[in-house]
Amino acid sequence: MVDTMNDKWIHACSVQDVPENGGVCVKVADLQIALFHFKRRGEWYATQNECPHRHQMALSRGMIGSQGDEPKVACPFHKKTFSLKTGECLSGDECAIKTYQVRVDDDQVFLSITDDEL
Ligand code: FES
Repeated sequence: MVDTMNDKWIHACSVQDVPENGGVCVKVADLQIALFHFKRRGEWYATQNECPHRHQMALSRGMIGSQGDEPKVACPFHKKTFSLKTGECLSGDECAIKTYQVRVDDDQVFLSITDDEL
């Protein structure tokens, strides 16, 4: 499936593979992507799995929640938090994470990834 010239929708997994209100790590080529089913909000999010603080591949195991209206994930190591919408670090640091669009069709989950990342 092709969305734009440079973005591809890549099949990640099925809805049942992702815990409700939790995340999994999806490997696409050499990328590790943290995929979250934020059931309480009825939303899906995807970010890089690597926490930029100490470069741990850990965000998929992080706790998700909300800061005001902003959905966020907290790294399990030192609890730095990131917006699931924009990737901005909400803990007052400069580091941000990459986010990806998610689409769910017929119980299947797809990620939008640009060609140059693959
Ligand atoms: S490695 Fe994620 S907060 Fe330190």
